[in-house]
Amino acid sequence: MQQFESVGDVKQLKHLIQKGLDMKAQPLQYESLGKGKTLILLFFNPSLRTRLSTEKAGINLGMSVISMNAGQGWQLEFEDGNIMNMDKAEHIREAAAVISQYADIIGLRTFPSLTDKEKDYSDFIFRQFIRFASVPVVSLESAIRHPLQSLADLITIEEHKTKARPKVVLSWAPHPRALPQAVSNSFLEWVHQTDAELLITHPEGYELAPEFAKDIPVVYNQREAFEGADFIYTKNWSSYKEYGKILSQDSDWMITPEKMALTDNGKFMHCLPVRRNVVVADGVLDSDASLVIQQANNRTFAAQAVLHDILSGL
Ligand code: CP
Repeated sequence: MQQFESVGDVKQLKHLIQKGLDMKAQPLQYESLGKGKTLILLFFNPSLRTRLSTEKAGINLGMSVISMNAGQGWQLEFEDGNIMNMDKAEHIREAAAVISQYADIIGLRTFPSLTDKEKDYSDFIFRQFIRFASVPVVSLESAIRHPLQSLADLITIEEHKTKARPKVVLSWAPHPRALPQAVSNSFLEWVHQTDAELLITHPEGYELAPEFAKDIPVVYNQREAFEGADFIYTKNWSSYKEYGKILSQDSDWMITPEKMALTDNGKFMHCLPVRRNVVVADGVLDSDASLVIQQANNRTFAAQAVLHDILSGL
């Protein structure tokens, strides 16, 4: 693996999921693999889980790990040919090249603007970084994808599924702030590669980008979508069509115990952080149906599986 940006970078998805499970069973089995290698994690946006789990993954593989809140330093210029006489102090050409001299693998988190759809969906900042870096780059969530989260989600589904072809529902839920579509896009992209029956439910106007929504069925009635489901994966996202806008805050879309009762003893999933009693009721989050803590735990082993393959040249 030369870089990790999407499921398209994965040769054999089943093998990578299994590798994550193997890492979980024996986290230190490759503790010498990364000896003498440096992992640098750059965060242009905040993180709790991604930062700590990826740091831990690198440490478990014997790497030295350096994290930087890149968003708190001076601003970088990502455009080519600009006259840099304003607030941008350094160009990505120099920054990515310099960081590549210190790192064997670079991780990068960069959120979308939610104002410029074309630029966000070209994954401009992530692509510019890859363009000028000379070592493998791992996405820690880009403008449009969150692949390490999706791999952790598939590891979690693999652990908890009771059927060969589980029914997996991606459900929109309300939120007071405009959020990226990255987690939902990525979840669809990854689950679409498995044998699961996949369904999306959201209010009208929240259709996801066609390249991610593909031909996956959309059911606008949330309760109907939940019937017989094995996994309810919940996430808020802002509108793609009316880009970055909040079109609804309808609390009737919150995930409740009454809605979970429509499922086939279904499990509740969310990438976290989550707003209690806005996105999901306490009664769901605090129940045995909730897998959110297990998902967060699996972030370490997802990252460890990916870093392992990059370090091993697989
Ligand atoms: N799920 C997730 O990416 O969490 P953080 O934003 O805390 O990294």
